[in-house]
Amino acid sequence: MIMRVQQVVMATMVVTIVVFGPKRAEAAAPRAFFVFGDSLVDSGNNNYLPTTARADSRPYGIDYPTHRPTGRFSNGFNLPDIISQRIGSEPTLPYLSPELNGPKLLVGANFASAGIGILNDTGVQFVRILRMYEQFELFEEYQERLSAEVGSERAKKIVNGALVLITLGGNDFVNNYFVTPFSPRSRQFTVSQFSRYLISEYSKILQRLYELGARRVLVSGTGPLGCVPSQLASKSTNGDCVPELQQAAQIYNPLLVQMTKDLNSQVGSDVFVAVNAFIMNMDFITKPQTFGFVTSKVACCGQGRYNGIGTCTSLSNLCPNRDIYAFWDAFHPTQRALGFIVDAIFSGTNDVMSPMNLTTVMALDSNI
Ligand SMILES: *[C@@H]1O[C@H](CO)[C@@H](O)[C@H](O)[C@H]1NC(C)=O
Ligand SMILES: *[C@@H]1O[C@H](CO)[C@@H](O)[C@H](O)[C@H]1NC(C)=O
Repeated sequence: MIMRVQQVVMATMVVTIVVFGPKRAEAAAPRAFFVFGDSLVDSGNNNYLPTTARADSRPYGIDYPTHRPTGRFSNGFNLPDIISQRIGSEPTLPYLSPELNGPKLLVGANFASAGIGILNDTGVQFVRILRMYEQFELFEEYQERLSAEVGSERAKKIVNGALVLITLGGNDFVNNYFVTPFSPRSRQFTVSQFSRYLISEYSKILQRLYELGARRVLVSGTGPLGCVPSQLASKSTNGDCVPELQQAAQIYNPLLVQMTKDLNSQVGSDVFVAVNAFIMNMDFITKPQTFGFVTSKVACCGQGRYNGIGTCTSLSNLCPNRDIYAFWDAFHPTQRALGFIVDAIFSGTNDVMSPMNLTTVMALDSNI
């Protein structure tokens, strides 16, 4: 009798595990998240590289839970962190972090590197950074490691089912074309020609990402390059956004939307979603008070005009309340401003999220 009860109990447990075990585990595992691009999304890869483009000293990270610098170009969380929080995932670790091992690989990985651009000659002044082709080499290496962890079939599913974010292009203008008045690229191309060249190279990058298994990719355009404190400090006489940089962003961004549309029709699916970071940033730059900011011109951390000269260091001016500033340093928004950008990524209409916002993407993909 006792034996039989035990057998029944055992059998019931086996059935329960078979029926509910794996299903529950799959349902509970949020989709993986992969991040590529520049300083807007680098979560600390550059900490591991001999580069000058780094955010690993105070006061970076002052509002992060640990109150310590992490390599994020923010006072606290950065854009990928806030997206991870809102999709219910852990933050993705920088790929170069030694902590990215074992089950952590299933969360995804961040390959971004501050200072890089679409072109290999962008950011040469920062010495050793992970250019796009290197980020992709590491993504291939990641997939091998993930396969070793969970098997190649499951690894492929995780990659195909993942959400991907890529942010590129700002540095190609600010740290390449416009870096000096007579930069090599500006002598080679007009802004319009240069934008077209960037888009054709960006298209190749996205096609490579597709080949590597990405099936849902948020592709961010450039923000209002002429409105960042760095450009106000160096090129604006009266605090108005610098027209030549604003015009460049306004030539480049529509080309990017068209390019993602072309790629989607090529692959026959809405793989690429264009994020209009220009409009999203302009909302709080033109009406800072509406968003609870005292200014959108002066950076919280920095020195000189608009706190926009040089980099943010422990010797810089530092605002006491980061929540009332739109810009944290000369180039990067504060954590609170990034929250407004993520709001728009989730709930924006077709003019800022093309062809659809992230709420719609998550709903569509929930039955994968
Ligand atoms: C950047 O360099 C890599 C490796 O040499 C090369 O494959 C790629 O085509 C280059 N990209 C551009 C835009 O020149
Ligand atoms: C997302 O996009 C859809 C379709 O454009 C729209 O109806 C919806 O209001 C947007 N916002 C949210 C939160 O879904």
